[in-house]
Parts: sequence; C-alpha cells; structure tokens
Amino acid sequence: MNSIEAFIREIPKAELHLHIEGTLEPEMMFALAHKHGIVLPYTSVEQVRQAYRFSNLQSFLDIYYRGAGVLRDEDDFHALTLAYLRKAHVDGVVHAEIFFDPQTHTARGVPFATVLGGIHRALEEGRRTLGVTHRLILCFLRHLTAEDAMATLEQALPHLGTIAAVGLDSSEAGHPPAKFAEVFARARRAGFLTVAHAGEEGPPEYVSEALDLLHVRRVDHGVRSEEDPLLLGRLLRERVPLTVCPLSNVRLRVFARMQEHNLKRLLRQGLCVTVNSDDPAYFGGYVGENYLAAARALDLSRTDIAQLASNSFEASFLPEAEKQAWLGKIRRFSAASSSASA
Ligand code: ADE
Ligand code: ZN
Repeated sequence: MNSIEAFIREIPKAELHLHIEGTLEPEMMFALAHKHGIVLPYTSVEQVRQAYRFSNLQSFLDIYYRGAGVLRDEDDFHALTLAYLRKAHVDGVVHAEIFFDPQTHTARGVPFATVLGGIHRALEEGRRTLGVTHRLILCFLRHLTAEDAMATLEQALPHLGTIAAVGLDSSEAGHPPAKFAEVFARARRAGFLTVAHAGEEGPPEYVSEALDLLHVRRVDHGVRSEEDPLLLGRLLRERVPLTVCPLSNVRLRVFARMQEHNLKRLLRQGLCVTVNSDDPAYFGGYVGENYLAAARALDLSRTDIAQLASNSFEASFLPEAEKQAWLGKIRRFSAASSSASA
C-alpha cells in the first residue's frame, strides 16, 4: 500500500490560494537583500524563522510587507515565482492560481510592469518546462482606500487576459467587502473574474457581502462561515468554493490547534472546500504539507483527500473540458491506488 504521503504527493492537485509574496523564503530574502544592498533587521536565516511567531493576521502582515521590500527588479519577481512553481510541481500541483499584491510594490516605487512582467515570464516558463498551468489574480489591499484600488485597477485594465481575476486581501477586520463594491463592479464590467478573502478573521457577514456585493466566484478562507447556519446552507446550495489554508489558520490563531480545524466538518457536510498554502514561506509548509498536516490531525481518509483534490479543479478557473479531464485522472488514480492496497 502506498503511504498517505505518496498518495497526497501523487494525486493531481490545483492550488487556488497562494500569495506569491508569501513564498519568499528567508534564504532568498537574504540573497536579494545582498544583491540590492539592503540591510535586513535579521542576521541569520534562523533568526528570521524565529521572528515568524504570529499572534494574529496583523502581526503576520507587518512582517510580510517588510519582507517584500527586497523585491526590486523584474528578475526578483521572476526568481520568486519560478522557485514557487518548482516546489509546487514536486508537490503534485498541476495548476496554480496565484495572487499578487501590486500595491505592496508600487507604493515603494517599483513599477506595475516590473512586477507583472517578472511574474508572468516565470508562469509561462513554468508552463513550458514543468507543465504547470496557471491563472493570475491581482489582489487589492483592503487596508488602503477604494480610490487607491481603483487606480490599481486602471493599471491592470490593459493586461486583461494575463490577469484573469481580481481579489481582496490584507487586514480584514474593519475593512468589509462593501468598501470595494464599486471597484469590483468596474472590474467585472471589464471582464475580470472576482474572488475575495472573507471569514478568515472577519465575521460571516463579510462572506455574505463578498457574495452579494462583490459577486465573487469563490471565497478565500471563509472558515468563519460555520458560525452562521443560514450562510453555510447557502454555500452548500450554491456550491460556492472555499479556499481553505490549514497551516495558515493555525499559525494565525484562527484555530488554536489543527485538531480543532473545521475543514473535515465542512467537507463531510458536502461543501466545496479546497486545501491551499496561503503564504508557505511564513506558515511552515507548501500545499503537500497542508494536506498532510490536516490529514494527520483530522484523520482524513483517502476518499476525503481525493474529494479535496477534485474540489480544487471544480473550483478553479480552468475551462470545463480541462476540469473534467483532471477529475477523470483523479478517479483513475484513486481506483488504482485502492486496488493496489486491497
Ligand atoms: N495577505 C497574505 N496572506 C494573507 C492572509 N492570510 N489574509 C489576508 N491577507 C493576506
Ligand atoms: Zn490569503
């Protein structure tokens, strides 16, 4: 019988909730700081990892935005993205829908074109050399103003196609989706798909707002939806996907321990939940480690894992025929693996 580790690694998976800035490993942070003559507030990789002890979302974001300061030129964004794709490929990710936060970079003078150019070049290279397909999602920082988001959207309009969707991230509490209703309406009219972080630290009402006001196709995190049975019923009925990030939720204290995570409950109720890594360089693992940590703590079966992998394609922005092809591969993979273990 193949091990649960091998089953998780080998089953085809899509990753749908991944901030490219959150894949900046301390080693690359030091290399880029050296390249650009930047002095970091750390003296070693170990010291950086020691600093990654978070009490909530904001305590993480403060460190994460500071870390992103080493990303300066197009080659930096290219190297960052390619390094992620190589790791994802080893983890059995065949399709990645990646967030980037242009405002984190344009605010410190790095042009939008530099950020997008480096990421896009790496995504195309990853598709050619690794066979990992992709979509790119531009996230607006919700702690900044709606005017700032609208100006960022203006910069993105010529790149419709290269950028498939817009999303909403950063500090959730006090920044409801309603704040960005006009920006998202404009984005949808222009042809962008929409997603939003909601119900990570924020209340279930933010999930409802994301659906009603931003017309999102899926909800990033959404785990606090469980507090509202009516909302949960709606997510189930409308089959709204939730892109859940188990290691992130534990590191940011959304759940005290992995054993308390609601992933399995949501899955067994039939919700379209998926497993993702969020900011793997900061939270202790890429997508495979997220599946494995959840599987061990929650005692997930292979059927559960195959359902999570199937959900990841169903919830993706791939065309229907490609989704069906991957779903068929998962069915055949699962059948072969259970007959091998019989
Ligand atoms: N930006 C990067 N990671 C995030 C998260 N988990 N929540 C909100 N914004 C983020
Ligand atoms: Zn996120």
